[in-house]
Amino acid sequence: MAGLVEGKVALVTGGGSGIGRSTASLFAREGARVLVADILEEGAQESVDSIRASGGEAELFVVDVSDEHQVVALLDRCVEQFGRIDCALNNAGISGPQGLLHQIDFAEWSRTLAINLGGVFLCMKHEIPLMQKQGAGAIVNMASGAGMIATPGMSPYCAAKHGVLGITRTAAVENAQTGVRINAVCPGSIDTPMLRSAMQVDPMVEKMIRANMPIGRLGEPHEIAEAVVWLCSERASLVSGHSMLVDGAALAR
Ligand SMILES: NC(=O)c1ccc[n+]([C@@H]2O[C@H](COP(=O)([O-])OP(=O)(O)OC[C@H]3O[C@@H](n4cnc5c(N)ncnc54)[C@H](O)[C@@H]3O)[C@@H](O)[C@H]2O)c1
Repeated sequence: MAGLVEGKVALVTGGGSGIGRSTASLFAREGARVLVADILEEGAQESVDSIRASGGEAELFVVDVSDEHQVVALLDRCVEQFGRIDCALNNAGISGPQGLLHQIDFAEWSRTLAINLGGVFLCMKHEIPLMQKQGAGAIVNMASGAGMIATPGMSPYCAAKHGVLGITRTAAVENAQTGVRINAVCPGSIDTPMLRSAMQVDPMVEKMIRANMPIGRLGEPHEIAEAVVWLCSERASLVSGHSMLVDGAALAR
């Protein structure tokens, strides 16, 4: 049986770890050729090696998504290597500084916004014209439950993720007649290196994070990957401008 994204080309930023790695690997299992992009070469190489070991096709590119020149080079590489770009997961991100808003250093605020929001903006800015030229494409931006509600102690992260939803909806409407669909996924607490290091800061934080998942466990990266790959597939042909919560009912309460 053909995979969900058979014959497509998929780009995954932040593909060297956690949710990005799991999604890159599901894209490959569902038939796509994958460009794994990350600021850390080692993680990206491990993702690529594991896809290749399972018989998939993947390449890596080292990029800082907050730098426009590097993002342009990333998209150039995608087209040189694979000839096109059908699916993009704009996922690279950091948790940013923790503390009450009035204690946050402005430089740390700016860095968090530059990566988590600026990076999504820059990737979309350079993905959309390529997809428009093809007359087809699907973009998923990685937001968070923190893009929908207050996240005390993480105001820069919360602001960036709210911003991701805003630019996702705007770009989706702008592209409604171009064949390019643009959606966001909003994970709950997912067991990745990012979440584990946030939980390590303070046992109270870990307790709070676990208590916020009504299903009684953390989510797994592959559970987010399933949503992303479906959104990028033709099965989701009418879905655009959507913010999909994948959080085990965490925000339903
Ligand atoms: N884990 C969760 O609970 C959770 C919940 C909601 C949303 N998210 C979002 O999911 C995305 C992935 O998070 P994760 O939990 O898999 O984290 P992770 O730390 O495991 O992976 C993030 C990846 O992004 C890369 N990266 C960081 N800065 C970058 C930059 N400037 N340029 C390119 N790559 C960069 C890192 O090297 C890393 O490989 C993030 O956007 C995060 O905000 C995660």
